[in-house]
Amino acid sequence: MPILSVHARWLQNGTSVAGGHGYGGASNQLAYIGGFVVDDDGTVVIADICNNRIMQWKVGDMNGKVVAGGNGGGSRMDQLTHPGHVLIEQETNSLIICDYGNKRIVRWSLRNGITQGEVLLSNTCCSGLAMDDQRYLYVSNCAKHEVRRYQIGDKYGTRVAGGNDNGTGLNQLNILLSVVVDRQQTVYVSDYGNYRVMKWNKNATEGIVVAGGQGNGTALTQLSGPTGLFVDTLGTVYVADMHNNRVMRWPQGATQGTVIAGGFGKGAGANQFNSPFCLSFDRHGNLYISDTFNYRVQRFSLE
Ligand SMILES: *[C@@H]1O[C@H](CO)[C@@H](O)[C@H](O)[C@H]1NC(C)=O
Ligand SMILES: *[C@@H]1O[C@H](CO)[C@@H](O)[C@H](O)[C@H]1NC(C)=O
Ligand SMILES: *[C@@H]1O[C@H](CO)[C@@H](O)[C@H](O)[C@H]1NC(C)=O
Ligand SMILES: *[C@@H]1O[C@H](CO)[C@@H](O)[C@H](O)[C@H]1NC(C)=O
Repeated sequence: MPILSVHARWLQNGTSVAGGHGYGGASNQLAYIGGFVVDDDGTVVIADICNNRIMQWKVGDMNGKVVAGGNGGGSRMDQLTHPGHVLIEQETNSLIICDYGNKRIVRWSLRNGITQGEVLLSNTCCSGLAMDDQRYLYVSNCAKHEVRRYQIGDKYGTRVAGGNDNGTGLNQLNILLSVVVDRQQTVYVSDYGNYRVMKWNKNATEGIVVAGGQGNGTALTQLSGPTGLFVDTLGTVYVADMHNNRVMRWPQGATQGTVIAGGFGKGAGANQFNSPFCLSFDRHGNLYISDTFNYRVQRFSLE
């Protein structure tokens, strides 16, 4: 991830790097996209929820390749059920997958010949997943409205955000989705039900509103369905504002955001979204966004 200027701009029109051929189970299709990641080569790895598989698309590929699951929904170790999120663990050349329907988090090696995963955590309702540079895993737990941090192998973890039931207080979350973490182990969470993004410093007992928090609406001070999240090294927050069909940037301390992609109404045009969900950047600073009801991942080139 390069350091992006707070004034960086992206081309208005995106191009599809995965999917874009309607809902379906063919190798050029996706059936609801959960989380995805972009690696240093620009390869995109996608949680293809209703196909119960994780897909990999290399730059220029017309078709994706199944890299985990794809054996129908189920709870066998070679199956996934509605995988919602995926991460790449470089050190082990594996994927870490939130296997939502099985309430478990699994690790799936990318080495050739590996056809099943191993369970890292079970009985965990996971709506978001992140890893810090010390390889602690952060899981947003949908059932408990909290984010917990785990050392790999540890089953209990430590609460690092929320956990005080659902509500609107600064120490509460209400339907949490994405979680991201920075080098200081500061945790950022999209607090979907409260139309805001929260930042929890390490060891904090409550969060700080860093985007939205002004109710549901379309103004630049508001969010309507914050979902995907990214935070750069300057502390700038990038957030997919799902129901407004736009992606916003909120520099540290800002009281309103700027629209960096979309914002042209709901649609399937190159500059539009139909419910943007997850977002990421490649190392050149190009922006990638999953576009739920267009069944595609869009890339917006840095100007
Ligand atoms: C908390 O969640 C429950 C069940 O989903 C819901 O009925 C309630 O309205 C939520 N509370 C707030 C403050 O949104
Ligand atoms: C957080 O708490 C731990 C354990 O109590 C302590 O070692 C650490 O210094 C604290 N870090 C910060 C940033 O407050
Ligand atoms: C938020 O506002 C949008 C219209 O701007 C509306 O479609 C949506 O239902 C609202 N969300 C809630 C939870 O009321
Ligand atoms: C952007 O895409 C729209 C169609 O969605 C097209 O009409 C327009 O010409 C494109 N603009 C550029 C600069 O390519």
